[in-house]
Amino acid sequence: MARKKIALIGGGQIGGVQALLCAQKELGDVVVLDIPAVEGTVKGKALDIAESTAIGGYDAKLSGTSDYADIEGSDVVIVTAGVPRKPGMSRDDLLDVNVKIITDVANQVRERCPGAFCIIITNPLDSMVYGFRKITGFPKNMVCGMAGVLDTSRFRSFVSMELDVSVEDVAATVLGGHGPTMVPLPRLCTVGGIPLTELLPQEKIDAIVARTREAGTEIVKLLGNGSAFFSPAVSSIAMAESYLKDKKRVLPCAAYLEGEYDINGYYLGVPVIIGAGGVEKVIEVKLTGEERALLDNSLNAVKKAVEEVDKRI
Ligand code: APR
Repeated sequence: MARKKIALIGGGQIGGVQALLCAQKELGDVVVLDIPAVEGTVKGKALDIAESTAIGGYDAKLSGTSDYADIEGSDVVIVTAGVPRKPGMSRDDLLDVNVKIITDVANQVRERCPGAFCIIITNPLDSMVYGFRKITGFPKNMVCGMAGVLDTSRFRSFVSMELDVSVEDVAATVLGGHGPTMVPLPRLCTVGGIPLTELLPQEKIDAIVARTREAGTEIVKLLGNGSAFFSPAVSSIAMAESYLKDKKRVLPCAAYLEGEYDINGYYLGVPVIIGAGGVEKVIEVKLTGEERALLDNSLNAVKKAVEEVDKRI
């Protein structure tokens, strides 16, 4: 069986880690594409990783480029092209700059990679993935956004730190937009099958929810120059792997909703099944009144950003 081809559009902080993970997991051959100004950098990163494959014992070809012809026929396209946050910025502050970049990328991917499973990471996530799909016109199951996997991973990590238990045994989900309005659902969090609500007092749970909502900002402040990159890379590669291996993992992703959760025409974070058919199914969770109100609040924030995107593309 021929190897799969993975195009990473954007070879910055996240793109570099993604390339390493793709190689280590032998998901396929990797093409890292960036703007001509940093072509040397992405060629260097690709070669650096290629030179690690012998000692690591994994087979994958890696290349860097600024020429979209090189991503032709990719099976998976992951987009981080864009500008990350600096301290003091919200994700929505990136919209003006990043919508232009997403437009450029989407026009190229539409021509070069019809049929690819596309994962968007560029922020503000929910409106950027909306814009990408608007331009490509790709089927909704083949375009999704990476946010919920990361937000959920953060939530699970904080629970495992608080209880000092293996993170493997913490299951959880986070709904909504990728921003401070996101909706972690402690009611559905379990630790080895035991409800979190039986293991921690409410104020501890509230603190974990609050930290999850601001987890990206916490990292931005600490790094001082750029945003989180290891965890977004790992999260997006989990999605790509589930698609390429038809694992049918249940992962919270920004998915295009057409009636699910009574939402129509927007991308929003919800649990989905990712398999060989891309986003094969949106799983609908029954929400309490309070959770529903939080989701509506998050949707309203996403709607505002989408309005801005619609004005521009
Ligand atoms: N085409 C291709 N690549 C581009 C383009 C473009 N038009 N414009 C910018 N890029 C590249 C940059 O040159 C840079 O190498 O995108 C890369 C982004 O990398 P970083 O600046 O290191 O940012 P990163 O941390 O990887 O995050 C990228 O993901 O989490 C989001 O908010 C974050 O939108 C940001 C994106």
